[in-house]
Amino acid sequence: MSDFEITRRRYAAIGFAQELGALAMRYYLNRESLAVSMKGAQDFLTVADGAVEQRFREMIADAFPGDGVVGEEAGGANAENLWIIDPIDGTSNFARDNPHWCVSIGFLRRGVPEAGVIFAPVMNELYEAQRGQGARRNGKTIHPSGETDIGRATIEIGWSSRRPHEDYIGLARATFEAGAQAKRSASGALGVCYAADGRTDGYMELHINAWDVAAGVIIAREAGAAVSNFFSGDALTTGNPILVATPALAPRLAAMMGLEAGELLTG
Ligand code: IPD
Ligand code: CA
Repeated sequence: MSDFEITRRRYAAIGFAQELGALAMRYYLNRESLAVSMKGAQDFLTVADGAVEQRFREMIADAFPGDGVVGEEAGGANAENLWIIDPIDGTSNFARDNPHWCVSIGFLRRGVPEAGVIFAPVMNELYEAQRGQGARRNGKTIHPSGETDIGRATIEIGWSSRRPHEDYIGLARATFEAGAQAKRSASGALGVCYAADGRTDGYMELHINAWDVAAGVIIAREAGAAVSNFFSGDALTTGNPILVATPALAPRLAAMMGLEAGELLTG
């Protein structure tokens, strides 16, 4: 596939994310009438998630009929040209009138992340990147913080019930003991973007699914952050840990997560 074809998909994804964001907003603004169900402990699902993903599948079938789609709600299989969507990341925020949620769309070619778009409609912030072409928020180039002192750092730690609480508590303890401030804002996709954009100094999560970070990993790499090699092994079906951090702090954070510093992708 030529660079032109990938660029075409990036621009298309920017349009798709904005249209899907507008669709999600209609549900968000009428939240009281939304049925909220639980997929599992602390795992929220609204009708908006399914509707946004379904609309995205129609868009891809129309614009790029040979491409495959994997989504949080309806699954899917790997393909040479693969779109990965999280229709609403930060669903627990969405369901509670908290604006910190987004639509996340990643594009992979033969397993390599090539382009990513993440749109947070309430805040009207759109992150996007393409391999080799930098990363932007609302058109402005982004970079990680450049922080070198962990004693001044703010690190977001993602949580889900997919890992034992003790592991999360251990990671939070190590973060505080290192002198950093820890927080959690409940959208992995935005958490990765915020680490790439200097709004935090790092994002760590011991297990996350591919739809949460498929767009974020290319945005973070293009911004110049250190990023763990998320798409190694069977990440598409079983997930992996994720670390995105300003480069000087990444080796220490990787060690806290039990990752080898050599597994970090930089530059
Ligand atoms: C979750 C969020 C959360 C992260 C979890 C994800 P959802 O996705 O991204 O921040 O810690 O691992 O499952 O349920 O809001 O789509
Ligand atoms: Ca998600």
